[in-house]
Amino acid sequence: KRLVVLVSGSGTNLQALLDEIAATGAEAYGAEIVAVGADRDGIEGLARAERAGIPTFVTKVRDHGSREEWDAALTGAVAAHEPDLVVSAGFMKIVGKEFLARYGGRFVNTHPALLPSFPGAHGVRDALAYGARVTGCTVHFVDDGVDTGPIIAQGVVEVRDEDDESALHERIKDVERRLLVEVVGRLARNGYRIEGRKVVIQ
Ligand code: GRF
Repeated sequence: KRLVVLVSGSGTNLQALLDEIAATGAEAYGAEIVAVGADRDGIEGLARAERAGIPTFVTKVRDHGSREEWDAALTGAVAAHEPDLVVSAGFMKIVGKEFLARYGGRFVNTHPALLPSFPGAHGVRDALAYGARVTGCTVHFVDDGVDTGPIIAQGVVEVRDEDDESALHERIKDVERRLLVEVVGRLARNGYRIEGRKVVIQ
């Protein structure tokens, strides 16, 4: 299966996928990363792709006259690589109708909280501020909401009294990277069905 991974930052989730595929082999893993896209340049996530010899593209909102035009441009940039599955690994933009029309049902996101708790751009900070005793990460299909699509898998992480946002986020990312690698491989190898809010992986 062909994967396109979308990033906006450090790309450690992307790196986990790259390392797993390098270690296991694309054949056995069931997927290869054919391109990495971002909404901004100069980020470590793009550097990681370049070091791995993987084509990259950047589609910036401000380069387009409207959000819809950006969405169309992003859809085209992704489609050029003919992915079977698109993975948002820290991609910090909400895609629009055209992208979802094309990739809905084949677009997976990872979120650093136990959805439906703490959706949005500050899931780690919000869980900490709320005083949650456990939080974690969620891998889900993207739908037309924000972090509201059908859940594929979740991982639980204890919150410690001494945690600040970055310490907690690092501990969540340790679980998240393993969860994402495991889920993407299973989706790619086994195939899956989405039945309402349920995801059935064969
Ligand atoms: C991940 O925790 C992701 O869930 C969140 O931002 C983080 C991205 O980390 N949206 P990285 O860029 O993969 O290191």
